[in-house]
Amino acid sequence: MDIISTKNDITTLLLGEDIQDIRTAADIIKNGGLVAFPTETVYGLGGDALSADSSKKIYAAKGRPSDNPLIVHIADIEAVYKLASEVSERARALMEAFWPGPLTVILPKKEIVPDETTGGLDTVAIRMPSHPAALSLIRESGTYIAAPSANTSGRPSPTTAQHVEEDMTGRIDAIIDGGPVGIGIESTIVDMTSDIPTILRPGYITKSKLEDIIGEVEIDKAILTPDPDIRPKAPGMKYTHYAPKGKLTIIEDSKNPGEVTGNVIAKINELLSSAPDNSKIAVLTTREHEKDYNTDSIILLGDKKNNTTIASRLYAALRECDTIGAELIYSESICQDELGGAVMNRLLKAAGQRVIHV
Ligand code: TXA
Ligand code: MG
Repeated sequence: MDIISTKNDITTLLLGEDIQDIRTAADIIKNGGLVAFPTETVYGLGGDALSADSSKKIYAAKGRPSDNPLIVHIADIEAVYKLASEVSERARALMEAFWPGPLTVILPKKEIVPDETTGGLDTVAIRMPSHPAALSLIRESGTYIAAPSANTSGRPSPTTAQHVEEDMTGRIDAIIDGGPVGIGIESTIVDMTSDIPTILRPGYITKSKLEDIIGEVEIDKAILTPDPDIRPKAPGMKYTHYAPKGKLTIIEDSKNPGEVTGNVIAKINELLSSAPDNSKIAVLTTREHEKDYNTDSIILLGDKKNNTTIASRLYAALRECDTIGAELIYSESICQDELGGAVMNRLLKAAGQRVIHV
C-alpha cells in the first residue's frame, strides 16, 4: 500500500490516490470514521451520510455548529432518488447538465437521511463531485458521503492536503492526498424546493449557466445585500467565514469597481506608509500589479485578467496571510464578472464586509 506518510502518533494517515489507498479510506468510512478527500472544488471532510454518529463526529472535528447542514456526496444520479422524496424535472435537468461537477442541489429529504446530517432540516443538499478520487471513494464505501469543507469552522477552506493537515491532524483518521484542487471555491448551491430555483451560495456554475438549462433563477437576497437582518437560506452562509487572523480590508474604486486604478494603488500605498511601525502587513494583489506597492509582503491572488486563477489561489492566499503572521491585510477588489462574483462573495466575507471606497 502506498502510504505517503504515516503518523500513528497523531492518528492521521496521508494516503495516496491509488485504488488500494482509496479502499483503505473507504473501509474507514464504512466503520464510522472520518476521511478528508479531494474534490474539484475544495477538500471535503467525509463520513457516512446515513449514520447519525458519523455526522456528529464531523461537526465535532470541525468545531461546527450542528444546525449547519452537510452536503451528501453521491457517485451516480440514481442515488438522488434514494435520498430525496421529490425530484422535479428542472432538478433532473440540472443534474444531467452539470454532474459530475461543482453544483449542489437542495431537495426534500427522505427518512433515510438522518436529521444529524441535515442539521434538523427536512431538505437535503446533494452533489456529485467530478474528482476521480472522490467518486471512487464514494463507490468503494458502498454508502453516500456527508462532507463539509475540511477546514476548522471559520478558517479558509482547504485547497491542498497540507491545508487539511494544518486544521485536522489528530481529529480525523485519514487524508487522501490528490494534490491541489482545480476550482478552489466551493460548489454553487441551488435550492430546488422554492417556486423559483434560488442560488444560496454562488460558485463556478453561475446564474446564467443555470438559466440556460432551466430558465429563471433567483439569487438569495441575503447574498446580494449582506445585511445582518436578512437571514441567508443556507444556514452556513450566516457565519463569518474564510477569515484570516489579521484584519482584512478591500480597497475599491467606486467608479470602476473591481479595477485596480491609480486611486486604488495610491490608497493602498498610503495605508502602508501610515501603518504603525513594526506592524506586520500583507497586500493581496494580482500579477499585473505586484510591483506597484511599496512593500515586500506581497501575496499573489492570480492573474487580474483570469478570474479562474484567482478562485484557485484565494484560500491558499488567505492562509499565507496567517503563515506570515499578517495583522493588517489590504486587498485589491475582484472584477465581478460571473465567476468573479463568487470569488468576491468569499473575499467580502473574509473581510467581514470591510471595504474602503476611493
Ligand atoms: O464544494 C463543496 O460544496 C464542498 C465540497 C467538499 O463538496 N463542500 C462544502 O460544504 O462546501 P460546507 O459544509 O462547507 O458547505 C455547505 C453549505 C453550508 O452553507 C450549508 O448551510 C448549506 O451548504 N446547506 C447544506 N444543506 C442545506 C440545506 N438542506 N438547505 C440549505 N442549505 C444547506
Ligand atoms: Mg465550508
